[in-house]
Amino acid sequence: METELLKKEPERIQDVIRQNNVGALVKSLDRLGRLDQNYDIKPLMNLLKHDNDKVRSLAIKNLAKIGNDNLATVFINVVEQDKSSSVRREAVSGIGRLRNISNKQILFKYLNDSDPEVVMQAMRGLLVFKQDKDVQEKLKKLNSHPNEMIQDVIKKEFFNTSSSGSDPNHTVSPDFMKNTLVYGDVRDILKSVKDESVHLTFTSPPYYNARDYSIYSSYKEYLEFLEEVFKEVYRITKEGRFFLLNTSPIIIPRVGRQYSSKRYPIPYDIHPLLIKMGWEFIDDIVWEKPEASAKNRNAGFLQHRKPLGYKPNVCTECVMVYRKKTDKLIDWNIKQYDKKIVEESKINGDFESSNVWKIDPTFDKTHSAVFPLELCNKVIKFYSFKGDLVFDPFAGSGTFGKSALNLDRFFFLTEKEKKYVDRIKENLTQTKIFTDSKFRPKFLDIDEFKRIVK
Ligand SMILES: C[S@@+](CC[C@H](N)C(=O)[O-])C[C@H]1O[C@@H](n2cnc3c(N)ncnc32)[C@H](O)[C@@H]1O
Repeated sequence: METELLKKEPERIQDVIRQNNVGALVKSLDRLGRLDQNYDIKPLMNLLKHDNDKVRSLAIKNLAKIGNDNLATVFINVVEQDKSSSVRREAVSGIGRLRNISNKQILFKYLNDSDPEVVMQAMRGLLVFKQDKDVQEKLKKLNSHPNEMIQDVIKKEFFNTSSSGSDPNHTVSPDFMKNTLVYGDVRDILKSVKDESVHLTFTSPPYYNARDYSIYSSYKEYLEFLEEVFKEVYRITKEGRFFLLNTSPIIIPRVGRQYSSKRYPIPYDIHPLLIKMGWEFIDDIVWEKPEASAKNRNAGFLQHRKPLGYKPNVCTECVMVYRKKTDKLIDWNIKQYDKKIVEESKINGDFESSNVWKIDPTFDKTHSAVFPLELCNKVIKFYSFKGDLVFDPFAGSGTFGKSALNLDRFFFLTEKEKKYVDRIKENLTQTKIFTDSKFRPKFLDIDEFKRIVK
C-alpha cells in the first residue's frame, strides 16, 4: 500500500506512512493532482479506515477524481456509515462528481439529510441534471429548506427573476449630485434623492452623546435615527454596491463615584438592523491606532492589579463592510465598467493584505472626530471605480469628499452643522483646481438642492 499510494512521490509517502505522520500524509494526499482510470485505488481504499477524519476525506476526494462509476457503492457506504460530517460530505460530493444520472435516487435521499452541507453537495450533484423533470421537482422543494445558503442556491437556480445582463445605468449617477455638499439633516435631504444613485457610502456617524453635535434622548432613539438614515442609504445605493460603516463602542462616563460608567456597543447593535434592511455582511476591518493616542484607562489597574478591575486602552475602531443584497456576483458589478476604467482603477503596488489597518488618527482645527485621509483613500480605492459617485451622510469636515476629489471620484456629502459646512468648503476648494465649471464643488442648502433635483 505504502509505495503505491503516491506514484508521483513514492519515497516520500513511504516515509510518511512509516513515521505515522498524519500531517505529512494529509499534505501528500492534498498534492496528489489528477488521477486517471488506471490509478491503483487499493491504497486509497485502505485509507478509508484511517482513524483521522481529514485523511479519510482526502482519500475520498482523490478516489472521486478517478471517475470510476463502480466507486458509487464505496461512497454510499461511507455516507451511510462514517460518523464524520466532513467525510460524509466528501462522499456525497464524490457521487455527484461521477455525473451519472442513475445515481439521482440516492442523491434525492441525501437531500433530506440533517447536515445542510450534505444536502448542499447532493444539490450540486443534481444540478448537473437540472433539465431532468424529477430533479427539478425535488430541488425546487428545497426553496423552503431552513438553511439560508440552500435557499439562496435554489432561488438563484429556479426562481431568479433579475436579469444577469448588463445595466447601462450602473456606472452612471445624477450629474446634479456630483461634487455636491448639502447643508441640512440627511433625512430630509435624501427624500429628494432617487433610488440607486450612489456607488459607495463610507461614514462615521455621530457617536451617541459623546460629542456636543450628537445628543439623543435615549440610546434607543439614537439607534432608530441611524436605522432611518441607513435604510435610505440602502435605497439610494446601486445594486450590489458597498456601504462601509466606521463606529466603535463608546463609554459614557459615570456621573459620580458611586455609579459605573456605561459602555454602548454601537457596532454590534447596528449590525442586526443593517442585516434586517437588506445589507449583506461582507467583512470586518479593524482600524488600529497607536496606543499612545488612546485615552488612558489603565491608571487604576496599574495601582491595584485586582481581577475584574481590568480596563484595556481602546485603540481600535470597527470599519464594517456591507454590500447591497443581490443575486449577482461582484464580477457582474465589475463587468458593467469599460475596460479602460477598470484598468485605471486598479490598485497597484502594496495593498492592505489583512483586515487590520494601522493608521494614525488625524486632528482637525474645527472638528473633533475626523477621518484620517489615508483611511478614506483606502476605502475609495478598494471599493469604487474612477468616476463613481461616493457618499458620506455625516460629512463632518469633509475628509471623504477630499479623498474622492484626489482619486477622481465624485463626492456627495450632507452635513447639518453650519460650522462644519464652512470647514468643508475650506477643505474642498483647496483640494483641486477645476477648469471645467460643470463639476466644480457646489455647497447648497436643502432648498437650493431641491431646486436642482431632476
Ligand atoms: C463623526 S462626525 C463625521 C466626521 C467626518 N468623518 C470627518 O472626517 O470629518 C459626524 C458628523 O455627523 C453630523 N451629523 C449628525 N447628525 C446629522 C444629520 N441628521 N444630518 C447630517 N449630518 C449630521 C455631525 O454634525 C458631525 O459633523
